[in-house]
Amino acid sequence: MKFFIDTADVGEIRSWNETGLIDGVTTNPSLILKSGRDINEALAEICDIVAGPVSGEVTALDTAGMISQGKTLAKIASNICIKLPLTLDGLKACKALTGEGFKTNVTLCFSANQALLAAKAGATFVSPFIGRLDDINIDGMELIEEIRAIFDNYDFKTEILAASLRTANHVKDCAISGADVATIPPSTLEKLVAHPLTDKGLAAFLADWEKTGQSIG
Ligand code: G3P
Repeated sequence: MKFFIDTADVGEIRSWNETGLIDGVTTNPSLILKSGRDINEALAEICDIVAGPVSGEVTALDTAGMISQGKTLAKIASNICIKLPLTLDGLKACKALTGEGFKTNVTLCFSANQALLAAKAGATFVSPFIGRLDDINIDGMELIEEIRAIFDNYDFKTEILAASLRTANHVKDCAISGADVATIPPSTLEKLVAHPLTDKGLAAFLADWEKTGQSIG
């Protein structure tokens, strides 16, 4: 499973990219707001740091506007992936933009039927939002399983990009369910690393090592 980082915070991206674990980046208008950055400048910097796909989201609601904004964003760098909302206009824009060779990410997907439409429109990625389904007491992970089954039935090449992931268990369950990509906020990435028994074990080893009086190298 690929890891994308779900933030427009360039400092966080630079730091997490040093781990070698980051395969791409997703942003959205809320994340751009949170970063306090100009979208063009932020995306250009991010695309310089991370070689993989970097999603930048359009804000137009009509197909022509989405296509025009998508092409503007794509001029920033060759690894820009145009993020489009899962609406009828968004699907039309997806079909047109993928037809012209652009990478696309159809976002705000909340049902298997919506994902099927995104795949039929040729999306590079479709983004089901897990946490927001959990918020309304619908099992977000079941959606990943349904989409995986549908895409495998018909050999769709669209990648399942699990989004709105808020917990370490979300990430693990995505991997079990066969998501192609998990986009993970920095705070959740930190939770993947941490385990109290790792900290406890390390402290015990270091205490015993101290008692040996030895040093390495
Ligand atoms: O990638 C989508 C993500 O940013 C949304 O997450 O936590 O606002 O539902 P959240």
